[in-house]
Amino acid sequence: MTQPISLILDGDPGTDDLLAWMWVLSLPRQARVLGICAVNGNVTLDRTTANALAFLDHVGAPDIPVHAGARAPLGKDEPPPGDGAFAESGLGELVLAPSLRQPASHDGVGWMAQVLRSQPVRTVTILATGPLTNLALLRARAPDAYARIGRIVAMGGSFGPLPPNFVRRGNVTPFAEFNFWMDAAAAQSVLNGGVPVLLAPADVTHQLISNPARLARARALPRFGREVELMLNAPYHLDKPKFHTDGAFLHDPTAVAGLFHPDLFETVRAQTHIVQEGTGIGAGLLLPDGAGNVEVMIRVKDSDAFYERLYGDLARHYA
Ligand code: RIB
Ligand code: CA
Repeated sequence: MTQPISLILDGDPGTDDLLAWMWVLSLPRQARVLGICAVNGNVTLDRTTANALAFLDHVGAPDIPVHAGARAPLGKDEPPPGDGAFAESGLGELVLAPSLRQPASHDGVGWMAQVLRSQPVRTVTILATGPLTNLALLRARAPDAYARIGRIVAMGGSFGPLPPNFVRRGNVTPFAEFNFWMDAAAAQSVLNGGVPVLLAPADVTHQLISNPARLARARALPRFGREVELMLNAPYHLDKPKFHTDGAFLHDPTAVAGLFHPDLFETVRAQTHIVQEGTGIGAGLLLPDGAGNVEVMIRVKDSDAFYERLYGDLARHYA
């Protein structure tokens, strides 16, 4: 019996962050969640923090601490506006009762450092599904703690023309994916920071489309079916005009699958570099390298099997 992975969840909910976290929480024998650190991204830090608290209440996990992290990207006082993918609330059409709880702290980076120093070295995995600002701040403020991270599993970046029609390289700009566009400096720091990274870029998340048949399967889940459907479909209003698909792309849960269902993916080990300025800011360069710091997920072997794993895990836990 292998020990569960100790996890810190860092993200910018956003409904796909919430679905990623819901998937992690459905695997209590494989994952021990130490806490959540919210970051500015899809919406403001105040909203991402509030959405995290409300979501944990909604799915019956109110004991997991939520800490507020970075309010703006590295070197900026105020964040640029998100791209509205998940509406102003960050939840699309999903409605969650506001939590009565407050964040456990407003120093999420300090909390991460304290947790990493208290856990056995290299036993903590960080699942990062928003801009990597908190992790870059941790690396700068507490390099000793940062070096104790076992692995970072992240959703972000884009390294080539994106499926399914290959007419753009990015979702938020024609060149860049949202998380790495929002904080390109943080992405560059973390991807080249010495802690091994498993990365789910838009190149792979664009191979997972929540089409009507898959939404119908979500609705049929024994619990939270409507919520899962809404979370899957939330960004479709942006994906459709840009990529002409019959459903929304599935981003953050793909990183969870890379961690807990790695057999579903083809990966390549690489050096990666992120454009830091100009119209291509946030765009990525991928150089295959067997000694590279980043394992990049490049292909979903069976997208139907992916959704079967997602729905199977959710149905077994939320019954
Ligand atoms: O580009 C998709 C990513 O940006 C996802 O993590 C989504 O939640 C937003 O943060
Ligand atoms: Ca996210």
